[in-house]
Amino acid sequence: MRNHRATLARVAIAAALCGAAGAAAQDKIKVGFMLPYTGTYAALGTAIENGFRLYVQEQGGKLGGRELEYFKVDDESEPSKAVDNMNKLVKRDNVDVVVGTVHSGVVMAMAKVAKDTNTLLVIPNAGAGAVTGPMCAPNIFRSSFSNWQPGYAMGKVAGERGAKKVVTITWKYAAGDESVEGFKEGLKASGGEVIKDLTLPFPNVEFQALLTDIAASKPDAVYAFFAGGGAVKFVKDYAAAGLNRTIPLYGPGFLTDGTLEAQGAAAQGMLTTLHYADGLDVAKDKVFRADYHKAYNMAPDVYAVQGYDAAQMLAAGLGAVKGDVHKRNELVAAIETARIDSPRGAFTLSKSHNPVQDIYLRKVVGTENRYEGVAAKALADPARGCAMK
Ligand code: PHB
Repeated sequence: MRNHRATLARVAIAAALCGAAGAAAQDKIKVGFMLPYTGTYAALGTAIENGFRLYVQEQGGKLGGRELEYFKVDDESEPSKAVDNMNKLVKRDNVDVVVGTVHSGVVMAMAKVAKDTNTLLVIPNAGAGAVTGPMCAPNIFRSSFSNWQPGYAMGKVAGERGAKKVVTITWKYAAGDESVEGFKEGLKASGGEVIKDLTLPFPNVEFQALLTDIAASKPDAVYAFFAGGGAVKFVKDYAAAGLNRTIPLYGPGFLTDGTLEAQGAAAQGMLTTLHYADGLDVAKDKVFRADYHKAYNMAPDVYAVQGYDAAQMLAAGLGAVKGDVHKRNELVAAIETARIDSPRGAFTLSKSHNPVQDIYLRKVVGTENRYEGVAAKALADPARGCAMK
């Protein structure tokens, strides 16, 4: 009798648990946006969120059959607050996935928390080599680029265009350092060298003394990594100092993406390299641009594309498990093998979870980064130090 009662109790508990699991499957998927909504990268964070939401809207508001619920944290591009901010989403809000961020220093702290808590992390911008290098992990994906990729492509182009002696200038943090490293590698391969590296702390924009230094160094070209508000100011200051008339200013496309309305005449004719461009002959891009314009009344930029593709990657994973985020291995495998139909052109992911993609050469014409050609075909990050390779 006692045994029979115990069995009945067990059956009742099992039924209750099943019911709870059934209800949980109907719950919304919790998505945490950890992005900069203030500071020099504020516009980048907004574009990423816009792109992400656009894709979800196109799917009728559901991925893998489940609706999404959003949680937001402004990370201020501030590495010292990154662990606390990430924990707000992971521990307080209990999100299923974090989408973030823009700044390489912030993302490294996020990746550490993601690894420690096994939280799914999709990085929609920050190019830090570490997160798809030594820190690479099954639960960490990137929809954007590694800092090395556009830098390397620009180095090759600069050398091919006759730049023998080049000065580099950037904010002193992982993104700038790694972008310059990639550039040096490409430049060396095409016969040039860097004669001086100039830096200033992020997000300072007091460029005057450094511009004076550039003028005195008389290089064949300058390579600069800046983005967002800082990129607007640098390109304008470079032109105001008259340097653009004699020394070509090159950079990864962040230098002129989402910034051209503000840079105006100062940016005209500039050549940059990036995994997106205006005027691509990509069917998906034409639809994306029309839809983005309709939704937000502005043209999309590379950051919007990366946000859109972060949602596409998540959709590939969630679709394969019908929204059951607990089937983590299947979810990860589906993202790993997905072919993402991106507005930039379709791409796949490397073993370290970074896009393998064409890097385009672009030229500034009016308010467009106009497609000029492919600077590097199907370029993969070297993923140095990643054990998943
Ligand atoms: C970065 O910190 O990795 C970063 C930030 C802004 C960009 C590109 C890279 O536009």
